Amino acid sequence: TKDWNGIDQVVLRSPRGSSTRVSLHGGQVISWRNDQGEELLFTSSKAIFKPPKAMRGGIPICFPQFGNRGSLEQHGFARNRVWAIEENPPPLHPNDSKGKSFVDLLLKPSEEDLKCWPHSFEFRLRVSLTSDGDLVLISRVRNINGKPFSFSFAYHSYLLVSDIRYSSCTYKHSVVFSEVRIEGLETLDYLDNLCHKERFTEQGDAITFESEIDRVYLSTPNVIAVLDHERKRTFVIRKEGLPDVVVWNPWEKKSKAMMDFGDEEYKQMACVDGAAIEKPITLKPGEEWTGRLEISVVPSSFCSEN
Ligand code: BG6
Repeated sequence: TKDWNGIDQVVLRSPRGSSTRVSLHGGQVISWRNDQGEELLFTSSKAIFKPPKAMRGGIPICFPQFGNRGSLEQHGFARNRVWAIEENPPPLHPNDSKGKSFVDLLLKPSEEDLKCWPHSFEFRLRVSLTSDGDLVLISRVRNINGKPFSFSFAYHSYLLVSDIRYSSCTYKHSVVFSEVRIEGLETLDYLDNLCHKERFTEQGDAITFESEIDRVYLSTPNVIAVLDHERKRTFVIRKEGLPDVVVWNPWEKKSKAMMDFGDEEYKQMACVDGAAIEKPITLKPGEEWTGRLEISVVPSSFCSEN
């Protein structure tokens, strides 16, 4: 299909009814729905679906730079380019194709890109939907340059949640609480983007949201869970080749400053990104790097009283 700018989009469907929509602009996943047709990714009501910028929501690809940690535009140029569909990419592991519907995309640097980042590469992105409706993203970056190069990377995943704010009240002598919490990052070190990228150690049992947060957690486990208490469901994020996890929510004040983001929308989103940031990936000529992300949503049974 095409959007109203004439940019191609690809829709993948699983036999049970889940679906995902990928835009060739940015190679960006812009929707992911479960078997019941419920959307699982956040998209701002003020999102601009128009090049040259990435639309606010879904899963933009940050490459070859994360954030402003380098001389390139914020989060690198890959999310702002039009990708091509590749009919016959170099083979992946057979398990990456079996029982899945998928599309293969390809990005190569333009002349303009090479002026600001003089490294020839081929970036292959496979977006798949499993028969259970899980979303799988596989990125392969190959150095086709004569010299080594380094890059950082993130799957900037805007998860849709019921209400990010932690709240509690007393009901029939018990405390009833509502929250979104991330499990798997406790006790880890992180770089705080709100504090000059200074390094701290996480003290909490799990991460909950009570104010603006913009952190890069380091050397994280391969499985992270994002629990949504009100919706009684959990996003399970499995990753490979992606040691870091970015956690971002702009909260009230920053939301108001972003023109493509509604003032109250921060309550409905949590960015939890599989990433490689602290130690950039270095590829020698001919070498390839793979970064894999798999997100599934499972029902969670919560104890609502404590
Ligand atoms: C996050 C960064 O990943 O992305 C934040 O850590 C940034 O610092 C946010 O504000 C959004 O970036 P952008 O360029 O999409 O507005």
